[in-house]
Amino acid sequence: MSRSFRVGPGGRLVGRIRVPGDKSISHRALMLGAIAEGTTKVSGFLTGADAISTMNVFRALGVEIDGPHEARVVVHGVGLHGLRAPAAPLDCGNAGTAMRLLMGLLAGQRFESTLIGDESLSRRPMRRVAEPLQAMGARIETNDGLPPVRIRPSPGLRAIRYELPVASAQLKSALLLAGLYAQGETVVVEPAPTRDHTERMLRGFGVDVRSEGRVVAVRGGQTLRAAAVDVPADLSSAAFFLVGASIAPGSDLTLEHVGLNPTRTGCLEILRRMGADIEILAAREAGGEPVADLRVRAAPLRGIDVPPELVPLAIDEFPALFVAACCAEGRTTVRGAHELRVKESDRIATMAEGLAKLGFETRPTDDGIVIDGRGGDDAVFRGGRVHAHHDHRIAMSLSMAALRASGPIEVDDTRIVDTSFPGFVALARDAGLDIEERGA
Ligand code: S3P
Repeated sequence: MSRSFRVGPGGRLVGRIRVPGDKSISHRALMLGAIAEGTTKVSGFLTGADAISTMNVFRALGVEIDGPHEARVVVHGVGLHGLRAPAAPLDCGNAGTAMRLLMGLLAGQRFESTLIGDESLSRRPMRRVAEPLQAMGARIETNDGLPPVRIRPSPGLRAIRYELPVASAQLKSALLLAGLYAQGETVVVEPAPTRDHTERMLRGFGVDVRSEGRVVAVRGGQTLRAAAVDVPADLSSAAFFLVGASIAPGSDLTLEHVGLNPTRTGCLEILRRMGADIEILAAREAGGEPVADLRVRAAPLRGIDVPPELVPLAIDEFPALFVAACCAEGRTTVRGAHELRVKESDRIATMAEGLAKLGFETRPTDDGIVIDGRGGDDAVFRGGRVHAHHDHRIAMSLSMAALRASGPIEVDDTRIVDTSFPGFVALARDAGLDIEERGA
């Protein structure tokens, strides 16, 4: 049955909450744990559908995995060459990260496999990963650049040096994982820094990864040794609340144990430049990643020209940031963000459509958007009915708009929220959002 949210207008966000575990890190913990020697214990694991898809894929590849139990998972590693041929196509669900990283990991195996995904994933570009893997000697076929992806055993991968045509951590990670199976040193050059969780975690598993500026390199044949992984709360999930509390007068909310990897914190920088009041408390390190509590209080926001170099560092948070921009005094301009058009939905188009249904016209461009914000404390949206377009972040961003709406917002197609944020409705209610779920 289809599910929807009904979010009552107004209110504020207060108290202390911990959002679920980081999606990027949860995927990687399973992947590296699976091909490591020994037992990897993961805590703070994201039990959302995306990470569960990855877990099921590795079970189908013969890896024993216990849990999840209270966000804990135990992966019994089979070593670099211990994966087994799957009996059926491997279903990545809605998870682009799963499919792209698995392409790299499976390219070097001695068995055939096929990766499939849901309707949204089946429309996402895979050629950008397939092409450099082919250059490494992988035998990999897509359906005219789209899933399903068929990977046949190759006689052996060879290392290449590859300049990424797009700033994509998924692409970089796929090549580094394939590089573990290649002869020689695989060298990846990024056009701009992107999230470096793969490099950090590989090092945590004892792999020698060389990084210098925009260059990341790994030698093939290295053994991964199992390690404990403490997954911090996902900054991308916290972002809905950072925006919600910033725009809802009277808010004072603390988000606990949030991952603050500097390759992910573009949204904090953008919100701060817009005038948001966000304090970083008790900064510490957990599992090789910087972590802190974030205290956010409502503040008057102003529009900004988002510096293009911050775009890859905030790529998943733009749907929420667009809502903030609507509530800011003056113009916000985003450019250089074409990647938003090939996420779980075309996030420029789907947000512009949703905001328009709430009475707020924006100006989408080919690679960004222009938003003339309204500022002040009054409602900037009207109530209405919007559609998530099978995109979790659209559903949650448009829900937060209710904090500054004059009437209730109904969001259709919200089952997808479980991919990254199981328990969103209960947690958002706890914090003060007047949200309920229907059709569950
Ligand atoms: C991710 C990288 C980003 C991001 C995605 C997760 C990752 O994608 O949008 O949600 O875990 O590596 P791209 O690398 O394609 O930009």
